Amino acid sequence: MLRIGVLRFVALPRSSSSSSSSSSLLFNPISPKSLPPTPVIRTKLVSRYRTMAYTASSGSSSKLLFRQLFEKESSTYTYLLADVSHPYKPALLIDPVDKTVDRDISLVKELGLKLIYAMNTHVHADHVTGTGLIKTKLPGVKSVISKASKSKADLLIEAGDQIYFGDLFLEVRATPGHTLGCLTYVTGDGPDQPQPRMAFTGDALLIRGCGRTDFQGGSSHQLYNSVHSQIFTLPKDTFIYPAHDYKGFTVSTVGEEMLYNPRLTKDEEGFKSIMENLKLSYPKMIDIAVPANMVCGLQDLSERPAESVAK
Ligand SMILES: [Fe+2]
Repeated sequence: MLRIGVLRFVALPRSSSSSSSSSSLLFNPISPKSLPPTPVIRTKLVSRYRTMAYTASSGSSSKLLFRQLFEKESSTYTYLLADVSHPYKPALLIDPVDKTVDRDISLVKELGLKLIYAMNTHVHADHVTGTGLIKTKLPGVKSVISKASKSKADLLIEAGDQIYFGDLFLEVRATPGHTLGCLTYVTGDGPDQPQPRMAFTGDALLIRGCGRTDFQGGSSHQLYNSVHSQIFTLPKDTFIYPAHDYKGFTVSTVGEEMLYNPRLTKDEEGFKSIMENLKLSYPKMIDIAVPANMVCGLQDLSERPAESVAK
C-alpha cells in the first residue's frame, strides 16, 4: 500500500493563524485557537507527517474545508478539499477542468491554502483536465491519476493507496467499468476523519445514474461489480459526490442510490440491458479530450482548435 504526502517536515507549533473562519469549515468546526500548541510528529513514512496530539484531542472532522465547484459546459464538478487545521493548510483538487483553472486557483489563494495535488478520477472524454494548466501556474503541485489509466502523471496510484493532505487522507478504490482506470476516492475511515464519509465517484456512480460503458475500455459487467463491491459496501450515510450532474443534483448518499438509482438497483443482466440500449451519441470532445488527458492536459494547449472549447 502506498501512502503519499508531499508536505515537508517543519516542527512548527500550531498557531491561531492556522485557522480559517469557522464559516468556511464543514462538519461542526472546532477552532484550533482553543487548543494548546502541539509538536509535529514525524512518522515512519518519510513523506507523511501528522500531528498526533491534535488529532487525538480533536476527535472530530473539524479539520476539513470542502468546496464543490461546477463547470457548466461539461457539467463537471470539481472538488476542493483541505486540512485547515494544519499550519500549511494542504489542499487537493479532484477533477479540475481546464476552463475553470483560474477560478480554482483564485479560490485556493483566497482561502490561504497550499495546493499539493491535482487529481483525476479517470481519463475524461468530455472535457480537458485542468491538471496540466495548474502545474504550469503552481509549480510543485503533483498530478495524480490511476496507474491502470495508462496516462502520464506525477503520481500513478492504485487500489488501497492513501493520499494524505495534512492529517486527512483519501482512500483509493478501483472502480473500473466506465473506463478501465476509473477510481473512487473515499475520505478516510477513522475517528479523526470526516463523518459521514465522502465518496468522490467520478463517472462510476452518478446521482440516479452512472457513466456510459461503450468506449475507453468500458464494461457494463465491470461497472456493475465495481459499484456493488466498492461503493455500495460503504456505510449508507456516505455522501456521494459525482464528477457530473445534468439535472441540478449536487450530492446523494450510498443508501439513497441503493434504493433509487434506476440502473444499479437492477440485477446485473437488467443493468447490462439498460447500458446496451442507451443509444448515446459519440462524445463531441472525445477526440480532443482523451489524447490531452492522457498527458495531463498539456498536449497542444496553444494550438487547440476553437471548437475544442465547445461542449
Ligand atoms: Fe467520464
